[in-house]
Amino acid sequence: PQPLQAKKVEEIEELPEDTIQNHVSVFFGTQTGTAEGFAKALAEEAQSRYGDSVEFKVLDLEEYGADDDQYAAKLKRERIAFFAVATYGDGEPTDNAARFHKWLVDSSEDNDFKLKGMKFGVFGLGNRQYEHFNKVAVQIDEALEKYGGERLVQVGLGDDNDCIEDDFAAWKLKLWPALDEILGTGQTTPTATYTAAVAEYRLVTYEAGTEVHEESYEARKNGQGVFDVSHPCKAEVAVVKELHTALSDRSCTHFEFDIANTGITYETGDHVGVFVENSSEDVEEAARLLGVDRDMIFSLHVDAKAASNLPQPFPGPLTVDTALRRYADLLNPPRKAILSILAAYAQDPEEAERLKFLASVDGKDEYAQWVVASQRSLLEILAAFPSAKVPLGVFFAGVAPRLMPRFYSISSSPAIHPTRIHVTCALVYGKSPTGRIHRGVCSTWMKNANSIEKSGPKNCSSAPIFVRKSSFRLPADPATPIVMVGPGTGLAPFRGFLQERDALQKSGATLGPAKLFFGCRSSDKDFIYEDELNDYVKNGITEIVVAFSRQNSQKEYVQDKMQQHASDIWRLLSADGYLYVCGDAKGMARDVHRVVHSIVQQEDGVDSSKAEEIVKQLQQDGRYQRDVW
Ligand code: 2AM
Repeated sequence: PQPLQAKKVEEIEELPEDTIQNHVSVFFGTQTGTAEGFAKALAEEAQSRYGDSVEFKVLDLEEYGADDDQYAAKLKRERIAFFAVATYGDGEPTDNAARFHKWLVDSSEDNDFKLKGMKFGVFGLGNRQYEHFNKVAVQIDEALEKYGGERLVQVGLGDDNDCIEDDFAAWKLKLWPALDEILGTGQTTPTATYTAAVAEYRLVTYEAGTEVHEESYEARKNGQGVFDVSHPCKAEVAVVKELHTALSDRSCTHFEFDIANTGITYETGDHVGVFVENSSEDVEEAARLLGVDRDMIFSLHVDAKAASNLPQPFPGPLTVDTALRRYADLLNPPRKAILSILAAYAQDPEEAERLKFLASVDGKDEYAQWVVASQRSLLEILAAFPSAKVPLGVFFAGVAPRLMPRFYSISSSPAIHPTRIHVTCALVYGKSPTGRIHRGVCSTWMKNANSIEKSGPKNCSSAPIFVRKSSFRLPADPATPIVMVGPGTGLAPFRGFLQERDALQKSGATLGPAKLFFGCRSSDKDFIYEDELNDYVKNGITEIVVAFSRQNSQKEYVQDKMQQHASDIWRLLSADGYLYVCGDAKGMARDVHRVVHSIVQQEDGVDSSKAEEIVKQLQQDGRYQRDVW
């Protein structure tokens, strides 16, 4: 490995003096930790490739700058920068990348920001089943070039629908030669296989009876006054109600958190993040497979040197039971890197070989089939390789991803329910291809939670929660016409919208026309909130059109109903109206989008490309908003 060559540095004009020359930044935009993991893996691999003369630093985009000016000043001084960024929902950046993305991509049109010779590479994490596949990565890649950055490697389009780790490995293979040219030929490391470094927390155990750490979520409300993903607030469950009738073979829960006296506030259209715990069944199974006593009390620690590569351990001391309950994602299919760690611990050579193969590039098809398509959970994998017993410090550091909060569109409005947050949650339940009964962690908890209403304030369930601001908002003027499309639980934010319109009307406002397209299977099974909706229709809060998909001989979806109401929709939109879509992004929102396009084309009498332009303009003006997942 060689240090940066002097000549190359000189080529960059007006380089500020305090530029750290032998310094490479690896940024991440992450929601569930995958992009962060990739950024760390890239930095680690590059560090071992190029040695200590260059420093590879992993940076959270959220913490990179406090405002736009800081972003500009700091980014200008980067010499080499890599970005591992995920795209979510409706082509949106992750929460931690939102501000940076907005600055770089949306709002920098008219400033004179210029990058002077920064070399960069972008790897995106997305899913090809979504319409805006890797949109954020592509936008960042294009913006960096537009501002004078020099692309070292073509943007990597990681596809989580397939094996994103293979995409990442392929992207790195293209990256190394380009980086070699600047940093000097590095030591070749076997990029192609997942020789994930086995990182480990240092484990300290305590005698039985040691007092365990209690999370006191309540105490935090007096701090900054804002709750977020790292500062959630404990909220009690006020109401739990089944929304489907006895005739339905599925389940959907109406759920209310009590936020009185918590300091939590929200706006109509926001999301709530919920930290939920694994079921006792899964926790027991995990402890059994790991061969540890659930009552054992322990804490985790990072030694300074390893600190940069491991997230902060959760606070302890705590029991194994609590740790598995709160912090370990036990049910998702494990990534290849996890399998390669298990391989390193497998005592039985056959198991080790099999794990190594599954984690290798050659094992791509087998991994896709046996792990991903079979939805084999981490627990099932541990059970299938009994000789791979990892120590707890390794399990929490590299094997079990952290259990992430679940997000729901809030289905109430503070105008009517200032002390409650309502959630409308479909139960995730079904047989996986291996025959395992898969129960969604959060939806199962919600369905079975004890409410204040039924069990009293002493025995009710609770969970740490926080509100995530969204941009899904009613028009400022209540007289503006609106069209809402939300089948199934996609109805959630519109229930909030209708409550807000109800409150507005009661306070004397004149409401513009509203039309809601709702879809369900049949009127006697899953027509959720039917009575409420009928009342809103009666009181002139909204019109409603329902598509029943399994009621009549003809299957009907919301988009079919929209097509039938094309002229009416166009009339409302032409009168400066707003269009909102909420629900499943892969199927419904995609199909609805096509219908919107054809309605514009047909009703406005324009050709397809003009229609596309009009739809784009609606989106840009915030008059076509989507809350999709
Ligand atoms: P289905 O279950 O009969 O397929 C709420 O879940 C409603 O959305 C159901 O009636 C469901 O129909 C319907 N749905 C399923 N896929 C859809 C799609 N691609 N577009 C619109 N609605 C859909």
